[in-house]
Amino acid sequence: MSSTPHLGSPADAASLLVAVLAQNERTQPERLKTILNSLIQHLHAFAQETQLNYEELELGLQFLNEIGLASGPKKNEAILLADVLGLSTLVQLQDAKRIMAHGGTEPGLIGPFWRANHPQLPSGAKICTADTPGDLMTVRVRVMDLNKKSVPGALVDVWQASPSGLYENQDDHQVDMNLRGRFTADNHGEFFFRTVKPAGYPIPIDGPVGRLLDHQKRHAMRPAHLHFIAIAQGYRVLATQIFDSQDPCINSDVVFGAVGSLVRHFEPDPTQVNAWQLQVDIMLEPGETRIPHPPLS
Ligand SMILES: [Fe+2]
Repeated sequence: MSSTPHLGSPADAASLLVAVLAQNERTQPERLKTILNSLIQHLHAFAQETQLNYEELELGLQFLNEIGLASGPKKNEAILLADVLGLSTLVQLQDAKRIMAHGGTEPGLIGPFWRANHPQLPSGAKICTADTPGDLMTVRVRVMDLNKKSVPGALVDVWQASPSGLYENQDDHQVDMNLRGRFTADNHGEFFFRTVKPAGYPIPIDGPVGRLLDHQKRHAMRPAHLHFIAIAQGYRVLATQIFDSQDPCINSDVVFGAVGSLVRHFEPDPTQVNAWQLQVDIMLEPGETRIPHPPLS
């Protein structure tokens, strides 16, 4: 005989919640049980607080279905949704608190545009084609541990949008993997690359998340930024972003990600005209090296 708890006949919201939570009692692993318990309670409280009707529930579920249908190898609408609702940044801020308490670098969102298999490039390489618009910029990166000791051999993926406002995977006018690269830190934990100064760009608004922003009367812009993810054996993987403090949208990032030490002043490069320079120090925490799944192939 099954030992499933008896459902009874829930007569009101309180007894319904008790019955639903009882069905979660045997869930494994334990962490999933904890998350589901909380999610169920918040969903029930949300429906009661808003006095949600069935038509609205159906609309919401249809919206979630459309999020799934809009996602594929070239676009991840689910990440966009979590981003514009501030959920991704909330999780990142929780992570940042722990990492920064140990002296590690403030993390930033991975976002929906990290691709697997970035091209491996030598230090000093330019990550974009000659016809990519924008001022030249040199970015120097130093990867260290929490004692500021260099981490030789660390792999760092970098990626950014073209100043035309699109990542290469969104844009037929850019070659495959333009403005993307993977570098290996040298014996001093360092490398540098050349690129163009990033510009702000809109997140994709051709899907259900775009419709949501329309309803909310919000702009879709992200302030100019570069993405980094650093991977080294024996250290926790760190994803971060560096934002241009001079961007007009620096205080209204559509995904709320331009926070704290991630916002930097891009310095003019004294050796060149119309050129910029940036130093990025990445301090890694020791720990298990768990590489996240790239949202795009
Ligand atoms: Fe981005």
